[in-house]
Amino acid sequence: MKIEVAFTPAELAGIDLGDRVVVVLDVLRATSTIVEALANGARAVSPVSTVDEAVRLAEALGREGVLLAGERRSLRIDGFDMGNSPLEFTRERVSGKQIVLTTTNGTVAILASATARRVLIASYLNLGAVAEELVHDGGPASIVCSGRERRFALEDALCAGALVRRVSERTNGAFELNDAARAAVDLFAAYGADLAGAFARTAAGRQLIDAGLEADLEYCTRTDVHAVVPELRDRQIIS
Ligand code: MLT
Repeated sequence: MKIEVAFTPAELAGIDLGDRVVVVLDVLRATSTIVEALANGARAVSPVSTVDEAVRLAEALGREGVLLAGERRSLRIDGFDMGNSPLEFTRERVSGKQIVLTTTNGTVAILASATARRVLIASYLNLGAVAEELVHDGGPASIVCSGRERRFALEDALCAGALVRRVSERTNGAFELNDAARAAVDLFAAYGADLAGAFARTAAGRQLIDAGLEADLEYCTRTDVHAVVPELRDRQIIS
């Protein structure tokens, strides 16, 4: 089994993803939120890049049973039903609903991976379930960090390292890694004992704290809370 890590979606440019399973990570907070929403019974999440696209898609779907969600600079977009905090996506709020979601980095990274054989959505919340699915799939895998404004984001790299480690535990190390995957494993070894502390020092973490959303930081460090493995199918993420 071959596992590669890409620290930004730009590293996928020009690569034929046709034979790959791509795992997208945006720990703070898009992929954590998608996992939470589907674990709480949302019917599907439609990722889109822009605010206009989100509004148009929600109208095209008919607002009944559809929730418009998303953030810019971590804050709920004006006129939207919800922001991008996993703590908002409770069973009471999202069960049976279709969610249209636009975020700064995460939804862009998901759409940039759409040509892959499979696209899975990961976070710490469903880490073990995704590791299991990767081993089950057995195919070459690319773990893609959404990053932050096309730059390296430590919180995503740490989760990539944690995921590679989980897969290695399940495969007795019988796989091939690229340098970024090795580095991610070492980063997780260095920071993994205090994830909340590490997150609070990241650019994304500081922005969330400044926005009064520190509770999200703690929640997004929780591991194996859910067993769902969301997957992109025809521009919709389902589980
Ligand atoms: C993103 O996609 O950029 C993040 O999820 C942003 C956020 O939630 O603050």
